[in-house]
Amino acid sequence: MQYEVVLPAAGSGKRMGAGQNKLFLKLLEKPILVHTLEVFQQDPACTGIWLAVKPEERGFIQKMLEDYRITKVKGLPDGGAERQHSVHSCMKEMQQVDIVLVHDAARPFITHDIIAKLVQNAHHHGAAIAGVRAKDTMKKVSMNGIIEETVDRESLWMVQTPQAFRFELIMEAEDVAEKVGFLGTDEAMLMERLGHQVHIVESSYENVKMTTQEDLVFGEAILRKRGS
Ligand code: C5P
Repeated sequence: MQYEVVLPAAGSGKRMGAGQNKLFLKLLEKPILVHTLEVFQQDPACTGIWLAVKPEERGFIQKMLEDYRITKVKGLPDGGAERQHSVHSCMKEMQQVDIVLVHDAARPFITHDIIAKLVQNAHHHGAAIAGVRAKDTMKKVSMNGIIEETVDRESLWMVQTPQAFRFELIMEAEDVAEKVGFLGTDEAMLMERLGHQVHIVESSYENVKMTTQEDLVFGEAILRKRGS
């Protein structure tokens, strides 16, 4: 089953402290952004990539696409101040497709089998997102650092991207969110707000987001393990 993917890539990566877009940092000689793009370039089910970029980085990224022969990019609209704005600017340019995936460009280790499960699930149910079960004991903590309760871990998941949706559903959710000025931290929040059920697909702990410096160490270890 085919899909198109939206990749927000217009962040500043403050938590990485790299002084540049963290997606340009290299993991085993290749930029993080290219690792992510190659997953979709190499997936036969992916029919188009929409990349939200900072205007001042567009030229650099276009050159990167040429150098690494990424040919599936259909548009590079301007990103916005928040991640959701960046996703929205891609959605505005997309034509009707069956399934849309939204995936953080900063998660380069997503695999084709997890993507396929998400796409199938979204096709059947409308909305499905990747996540992993919480591994540690979870505590709810007050603002002044005192434990309030130990939360039952059985029902807790740490969610990731990709998040997959039927086109009409994500369009509706994005439109409503824009009209009322609602900012979610992920697309699933927009769907939940409209009362749509969102399914979870068990993903991998390897699907980490490159956020802080130590993630780069994990990232290179994952690539070495995979023999990249
Ligand atoms: O900062 P964080 O890693 O949580 O951002 C997740 C993804 O969203 C990254 O790929 C980042 O480039 C992107 N982003 C964006 N526009 C923003 C903020 C983040 O495209 N304003």
